[in-house]
Amino acid sequence: MEPISTQVAIVGAGPSGMILALLLQMAGVDCVVLERRARADVLARIRAGVLEPTAVEFLRESGLITRLDRLGRPRNGSRIAWQDRPSMMIDVKRWTGTEMMAYGQTFLTEDLYAQSDVLGTRLFEEVSELQIAGIDSPRPTLEFRSPRGSYRVTCDYVIGCDGARGQCVSLIPEANRRTFERVYPFGWLGIMSETPPIDDFTYIHHADGFALAAQRGPNLSRYYVQTPLDQGVEAWSDDRFWKTFLHRAPKDIAEQVVTGPSIEKSLAPLRSRVVEPMRWGNLFLAGDAAHVVPPTGAKGLNLAISDVRLLSRALLAHYNDGTDDLLDRYSQDALQRVWAASNLSWKLTRLLHVFPGEPSIDARLRLCDYEQLLESEDLQRALARDYAGASLA
Ligand code: APR
Ligand code: PHB
Repeated sequence: MEPISTQVAIVGAGPSGMILALLLQMAGVDCVVLERRARADVLARIRAGVLEPTAVEFLRESGLITRLDRLGRPRNGSRIAWQDRPSMMIDVKRWTGTEMMAYGQTFLTEDLYAQSDVLGTRLFEEVSELQIAGIDSPRPTLEFRSPRGSYRVTCDYVIGCDGARGQCVSLIPEANRRTFERVYPFGWLGIMSETPPIDDFTYIHHADGFALAAQRGPNLSRYYVQTPLDQGVEAWSDDRFWKTFLHRAPKDIAEQVVTGPSIEKSLAPLRSRVVEPMRWGNLFLAGDAAHVVPPTGAKGLNLAISDVRLLSRALLAHYNDGTDDLLDRYSQDALQRVWAASNLSWKLTRLLHVFPGEPSIDARLRLCDYEQLLESEDLQRALARDYAGASLA
């Protein structure tokens, strides 16, 4: 087994792991990254595509995302459309003075991997049999296999960026870990199509369920419909998908939609999960490894970015200035944002979806919520600030 000594070992090369690795490396902190999957699999993942203003600013300043201003599409906010009611803007520009950015996670991951090639990041791909020990000791170890051989890494800190099904979270003793979870009784069926998108990201509520029109580029659109979980993707022909979407969309939106063959189709169940704490000994968790939000609100990627923003500052303060206050506060600081985003995601999910088997009173209460939102600028401002992640910026 080949020995490797480093300062920081990062498990997982999704957005959290890669952003953190590159920031540390550029600041002269030595790190290695371990990724279970092959690069092509990581790059093929399709996830949400909306960045908050603070995430845009942070990524722009970092210089990591070279195509952000070329491929990204600034957005004033997103629209909510409601069956038989006027639509409304979640007007981030108006209420916060800042802009969101449409930038697909796929583009972001490509940028990060390209940058890691330039910087020569020590990235081990297709790793297996990972065993992590000693997170309570000053030099934790990670043993693993990769196609290049077997390795034993010793480090100061282990960072668990290994996503929603990762193993790092279970290194926190069960007695000291709390998991808060909600599993929703439906999913989102999403398709990608090479057609021009409609102008705004549009969240649609209809008595038959939710739908969303999203975008990736001038000729790349992403659409979703709320679906029961008992049918897989194979039950959804393109024809059935478009009929369902167009039926749920109000007429003025449906008229703008350009339909076309799907180039990708996937079903994502919705759930919400938060693990506390996000630090144990010399282990820190970031991104989906610590929390999952339903996609309504597009907070998953933004939370991952805000975690690694906090964590990179904290690690640099440790290595450059010898101060550990930020490391000690990491879990508390990160969780504040995590809970705020989880709350927004829950409120939007509850407002916009139809829950199977719900009592009839729920539809009226939901409509009441929407009508209050239409009438109250205070509520619109509050929603826009939460949607932009501005409340804690
Ligand atoms: N060893 C190495 N890598 C692992 C292991 C392991 N044992 N287990 C999981 N991984 C890898 C996964 O293969 C994946 O590439 O960790 C990575 C985690 O990446 P993401 O799931 O993308 O999580 P994260 O980087 O936190 O990004 C969060 O991605 O999931 C979306 O909606 C989410 O947008 C949010 C963002
Ligand atoms: C997407 O672009 O896929 C997207 C946008 C907004 C959401 C979720 C997903 O809330």
